[in-house]
Amino acid sequence: MINSTTKLVGLLGHPIKQSFSPSIHNYLFKKYNQNNIYCCFDVKESDLEEAVRSIKTLNMRGCNVTIPHKVNVMKFLENIDKNARLIGAVNTIKNDEGFLTGYNTDGLGFVKSILDKGYDLNNKKIMIIGAGGSSRSIAVQLASNKVKSIEIRNRSIQKAMDISEIIRDNFKIASTYSNKTIDKNDIEDIDILINTTPVGMESNECPIDESIRVKGDLLVCDIVYKPQNTSFIKWAKSNNLDVVYGIDMLINQGLEAFYIWTGIKPSKEDELYLKGLYYD
Ligand code: ATR
Repeated sequence: MINSTTKLVGLLGHPIKQSFSPSIHNYLFKKYNQNNIYCCFDVKESDLEEAVRSIKTLNMRGCNVTIPHKVNVMKFLENIDKNARLIGAVNTIKNDEGFLTGYNTDGLGFVKSILDKGYDLNNKKIMIIGAGGSSRSIAVQLASNKVKSIEIRNRSIQKAMDISEIIRDNFKIASTYSNKTIDKNDIEDIDILINTTPVGMESNECPIDESIRVKGDLLVCDIVYKPQNTSFIKWAKSNNLDVVYGIDMLINQGLEAFYIWTGIKPSKEDELYLKGLYYD
């Protein structure tokens, strides 16, 4: 019930498209007796500083931040978590009595999706397709989990090189990059293959040549969540490979934000319930 002590949590973005966050967080706040309410705010770029200031003025518990503010918001915060700084973007803000700390839970949510399946990331060889913000957050978080190596494949080489450098310099983990199209040999030795490009979103394009046949225990992950069964996921299933869906990462980045604000880790049942709302 909303009363005089209810605290506000918000999403700052522009435009605010259909968001999963209010239903995830309002469900969890109710379930765990957290007297908070989650609302979305359409904030123009020119109003961002004022919106961030109002987190303090209104004594909000925190915020999520989405496109196009994930980078610009950083300059208005008192503190930025180490990995969010390396990623160069913030999607979650926690308000500790006027002291705002920025975090990035995109990569955390992705890693949680893999660990939830019972995978051990230690010593694994990773290939990430794409070199945008999502690739960066996933690469940094995987590197924090002591994987063996990370190769970045992207059509434009500079961004791939930048991510590789961040990984090598900050985590002392082997990282290579290339703009070559992926062939069978490239993935034969890989443990986890991740698509972070929008290829396959609202189309049946695939980020890999679908005629490639793979054997073994390669784990295939797509961050595209609509459709759930992208061509990349279908390709993996046709090779009898295990998969992680984009919707898993989407829900899990929300669960990680909830943990940052409340210190509560939602149960397995909550996760399954929330994923169930969105699985095709
Ligand atoms: P996000 O923040 O979700 O990571 P992004 O920053 O726009 O989104 O990055 C998307 C990535 O997918 C980029 O690396 C982009 O390649 P460029 O760096 O060359 O722009 C890649 N990408 C987008 N559309 C693509 C396509 N049709 N084929 C291959 N790669 C694509």
